[in-house]
Amino acid sequence: MKKEKNILITGESGFIGSHLIDFFVRNYSKYNIYGLDVLSYASNKKLTNHLFEFPNYFFEKLDIRNRDEIFKFFKENAITDVINLAAESHVDNSISNPILFAETNIIGTINLLDAFKKYSSGRFHHVSTDEVFGDLGPNDKPFNEMSPYLPNSPYAASKASSDHFVRAYHKTFNSDVIITNCSNNFGPHQHAEKFIPTVINSIKNNKLIPIYGNGKNIRDWLYVKDHVSAIDLVFHNGMSGNTYNIGANNELSNNELVSLICDIFMEKKYHDRPKELVSFVSDRPGHDRRYAVDCNKIKKNLSWVCQYDFKQSLSDTIDWYFKKSD
Ligand SMILES: NC(=O)c1ccc[n+]([C@@H]2O[C@H](COP(=O)([O-])OP(=O)(O)OC[C@H]3O[C@@H](n4cnc5c(N)ncnc54)[C@H](O)[C@@H]3O)[C@@H](O)[C@H]2O)c1
Repeated sequence: MKKEKNILITGESGFIGSHLIDFFVRNYSKYNIYGLDVLSYASNKKLTNHLFEFPNYFFEKLDIRNRDEIFKFFKENAITDVINLAAESHVDNSISNPILFAETNIIGTINLLDAFKKYSSGRFHHVSTDEVFGDLGPNDKPFNEMSPYLPNSPYAASKASSDHFVRAYHKTFNSDVIITNCSNNFGPHQHAEKFIPTVINSIKNNKLIPIYGNGKNIRDWLYVKDHVSAIDLVFHNGMSGNTYNIGANNELSNNELVSLICDIFMEKKYHDRPKELVSFVSDRPGHDRRYAVDCNKIKKNLSWVCQYDFKQSLSDTIDWYFKKSD
C-alpha cells in the first residue's frame, strides 16, 4: 500500500536493529518499513518474526556487499529513506578478520549510499559508534561532535571510514545524510559474544566470568531503548549533514559493572556467590581504556533525554537472558 515513506532498516535482525524496527513498525503505520539483513551468525530472525502480523512490515534477506541486488531492491521497493545498522560489530572478530569488516562496514555502506543516491528522495541515517574517536585518559573531557577521529581497532577504523563516506556524500552529492555516534549499548537481544551477555550467561551457568586485563576499562552504558528513542528523534528532526553523539552519562569500569550485575543476581536470588566467579584474562590487543560521550547537542537541540533507569534496565536485561531458553 502507498505510504508517506518506504524506510529501509538494515541489520534489522541484530541487537539494536531488532528493537529499532519494532519501534518503527508499531509507531509509524503511515510508513512502510523494510527490514533487511543477511542473517549472519550475529542475527536472530526470531527477534522480529512477530512483526509479520503488521501490514507495514516487510523483510528481505540480502547482503549489503551485493551491489547489484541492493540496487535492484531499492528500485523495486521505491525506498525513500535508510537507517543503516548492518555491520560486523564485534571488535575481537575485527582483530582476526579485518577484511570482512572493510567489506561489510565500508563497501556495504558505499553500496547503500549509491543506491540511495540513485533511487531515494529522503534521508540516509548512518548508525555509528563513539569508538571512532579512540581512547580517553581518566581526566579527559568526554568526546563531542568536534572530537578528531582516532580509531584504534579495525572495527572502529571501518566504522570511521564509513562515517567519512556518509559525510562526503553530503558534501559532494548533497545527499540528505545524518550520523549518530553512540556509546556501548546494553539490553535484551544482544549476542552472547558481547560483554554484558557474557557476564550474565557465565553467572547463569555457574562458569567463570572472564574480564579482560585488570577490569579498569571504562564504558558509558546506554540502554538500547534510549538509543532507539534518540535515533527516532534524530532521523525525523536532526539537521542534514550533522552528527549527533548519543550516550547516557553513565560511566562504569568493567569491574564496577560486573559487581552491580552480581548484586542484582543476589537480590533476585538467582545465585548465592557470583563474585567468586570473577576471573581476569589476558587483555584484548589495543584495548581502549575509556569511552565517554558528551551528548549535550542532542539534548539541547532535539530535547532528547534518557528515560530508563540504569539499574532497572540492567535488571530487566538479566531477566531476559535468565529466562531465555536458547
Ligand atoms: N551494540 C553497540 O553497543 C553499538 C554501539 C555503537 C554503535 N553500534 C552500531 O550499531 C549497529 C548495530 O549494532 P548491533 O550491536 O545491533 O550489531 P549486531 O551485530 O547485533 O547486528 C548487526 C546486524 O547486521 C547484519 N549484517 C552483518 N553483515 C551484513 C551484511 N553484509 N549485509 C546485511 N546485513 C548484515 C547481521 O546479520 C546482524 O543482524 C552497527 O552498525 C554498530 O556498529 C553498536
